[in-house]
Amino acid sequence: MDYVYGPGRNHLFVPGPVNIPEPVLRAMNRNNEDYRSPAVPAMTKTLLEDVKKIFKTTSGTPFMIPTTGTGAWESALTNTLSPGDRIVSFLIGQFSLLWIDQQQRLKFNVDVVESEWGQGANLDVLESKIAEDTAHTIKAICIVHNETATGVTNNLAKVRKILVLKWLSICLRMWLSIIYLRQSHRVLADINNYMHPALFLVDGVSSICALDFRMDEWGVDVALTGSQKALSLPTGIGIVCASPKALEASKSAKSVRVFFDWNDYLKFYKLGTYWPYTPSIQLLYGLRTALDLLFEEGLDNVIARHSRLGKATRLAVEAWGLKNCTQSEEWVSDTVTAVLVPPYIDSTEIVKRAWKRYNLSLGLGLNKIAGKVFRIGHLGNLNELQLLGCLAGVEMVLKDVGYPVKLGSGVAAASAYFQNNTPLIPSRI
Ligand SMILES: Cc1ncc(COP(=O)(O)O)c(C=O)c1O
Repeated sequence: MDYVYGPGRNHLFVPGPVNIPEPVLRAMNRNNEDYRSPAVPAMTKTLLEDVKKIFKTTSGTPFMIPTTGTGAWESALTNTLSPGDRIVSFLIGQFSLLWIDQQQRLKFNVDVVESEWGQGANLDVLESKIAEDTAHTIKAICIVHNETATGVTNNLAKVRKILVLKWLSICLRMWLSIIYLRQSHRVLADINNYMHPALFLVDGVSSICALDFRMDEWGVDVALTGSQKALSLPTGIGIVCASPKALEASKSAKSVRVFFDWNDYLKFYKLGTYWPYTPSIQLLYGLRTALDLLFEEGLDNVIARHSRLGKATRLAVEAWGLKNCTQSEEWVSDTVTAVLVPPYIDSTEIVKRAWKRYNLSLGLGLNKIAGKVFRIGHLGNLNELQLLGCLAGVEMVLKDVGYPVKLGSGVAAASAYFQNNTPLIPSRI
């Protein structure tokens, strides 16, 4: 076998798959088990309860499906919608593009709202579409919370507000009418016209367990993630969480689904055996440990850590004199930074050289922005000093490819920020 890893550790800074912590690796190093014995269902029960916490939901029903993020997308769509259903979907980068492609191949009527890559979802367009849609032809709104290709985070609370504000304005009109006109019957009919029933489907693949995510509070109907991102596990579990409204929708949704059918899971949940087909025992033990580590650190601390990693990376980019692909502060991502390079440099060369010379793995620019950006993933089980290693590597590569960077400039900016802002490790206080 060719030995391709080089000495020391590979510095893995692609935005997923990410580093797997040692305790998780050890937890997964075990034999297979009989998944129909009492032990695996007992562990599954606790996992199902605990994964709800990463979505911040108490009313949602989670499904841990042996799949990737792409399968989780399909599960969300086919369980809740029927072919021909109109859905509004935001195109802002490669992953939202791929989800839209899947939506079209599943024969939904996709109303695509496109933004320039580097910008967030155009929520003004959503607002007008919702306002115009008094007949409720929109069955779902699909949005990628964090577009991993461009490092753009969408504002989900704002989406929720758009859906709810219409409702509130109608409530106000009802109240005024009841008081002044005493026409409550007419106004109540009016409310039904305005209250928008569209399902709110969110790809949280590169956000959940790293960015602030509140399924219940934001009225998200289906949220999903993949195990290889901020959960810091191997690829192989797609976690999909459905609100009561989404479960209700699944009863009448007519899309063909077999492997991803929530009903098969629900039957086994009732029986207390949980698995309609063979789960990966090793991944379940890994997930148990990954969740334990996240809860030990505290989810809010995990989010704060990602916020520090994101901020420090952006400070380094600025110190190098380079620009973030994300066009405005309102959309910057704390899990991935896409760095624009000057036109005379091919960013693919940066990624190649980082791997070949410094054992550093960076993310490529994808599709429209191939050659124009490289990506630094800063999510999952990662700390400040690890990130500084990556930033030092990026500086050397930039110099290698002819960009006039001052070595140490980005590291200095990031480490000054860390030195002022890094708290004590919560479990060591
Ligand atoms: C935001 C987002 N959604 C979906 C996917 C697809 O996930 P997977 O490659 O696990 O199928 C990715 C992969 O990177 C992603 O970043």
